[in-house]
Amino acid sequence: MNASAHPDNTFLPGPTLLLGAPGVGKGTQAKLIMAKFAIPQISTGDLLRRHREDQTSLGLMADDLMRRGVLVPDDLVNEMVAARLAEADCVRGYILDGFPRTLAQANWLDRHVNALSQATPVVAINVQVSDAVLLRRITGRRICPDGHIFNIYTQAPRVDGRCDIDGLPLEQRSDDSEQVFQHRMQTFHAQTTPVIEHYRAGGRFAEVDGSLRVSDVNEAIEEALTNFRTDPPAQRGR
Ligand code: AP5
Repeated sequence: MNASAHPDNTFLPGPTLLLGAPGVGKGTQAKLIMAKFAIPQISTGDLLRRHREDQTSLGLMADDLMRRGVLVPDDLVNEMVAARLAEADCVRGYILDGFPRTLAQANWLDRHVNALSQATPVVAINVQVSDAVLLRRITGRRICPDGHIFNIYTQAPRVDGRCDIDGLPLEQRSDDSEQVFQHRMQTFHAQTTPVIEHYRAGGRFAEVDGSLRVSDVNEAIEEALTNFRTDPPAQRGR
């Protein structure tokens, strides 16, 4: 656990999902929660990009789909997530970022979590931002090879094109063009909106306004998680 990590390892009310459209700030918020509570962020986008860099068979297959803003097949993503959740650092909890994205993935995850001994049901946080703001966030995003996230409009690095944290050159993701963004949004509305409704109906669900400042969004997420930690699931918002 790093020095700034939260000392209370029971903080998270259960496996935590960050849901929301491309660019709402899932990765930004997941990294803050990860750093504060010393639990891993599991981003299926990051895992797939790592497979792509390593040129595994999954990475080579996913490359074309990701460039076009199309989802990678459920069984392959579920298998990848199962392997990651089996790693030792997930024992104290984890935050899933960008998964599940289809009802089939959600049903698989619910079964998988239920099958794990002593596991509590997942908590889902849906982050919401208007489409116009999302486009600016996506086209303005710059990332460093170590995963630190910047934005030329809203969170510019101190030195143009260089990561504030490690000085590495910043890059633009291949799927962060306006054209691919439109396709990613169509995919999100068609395939991931039902996932949001699935978890809303389950009751362990909260919505936060992602258009606020990063720190304010973070505060809202932590508040929602705290409420789930203290309230029995049966008393929460159906
Ligand atoms: P993935 O990498 O998961 O992309 P995404 O879900 O589209 O989400 P993003 O990473 O684009 O955005 P984010 O919400 O994390 O925002 P961020 O914090 O970076 O997936 C990529 C592809 O992989 C998919 O298209 C698919 O092909 C495949 N894939 C992934 N998961 C899959 C799955 N489960 N099943 C099948 N296929 C899958 O923030 C965005 C920008 O906004 C940044 O520049 C940031 O600095 C800025 N920002 C963030 N918060 C704020 C704020 N509050 N105010 C101002 N600026 C902000």
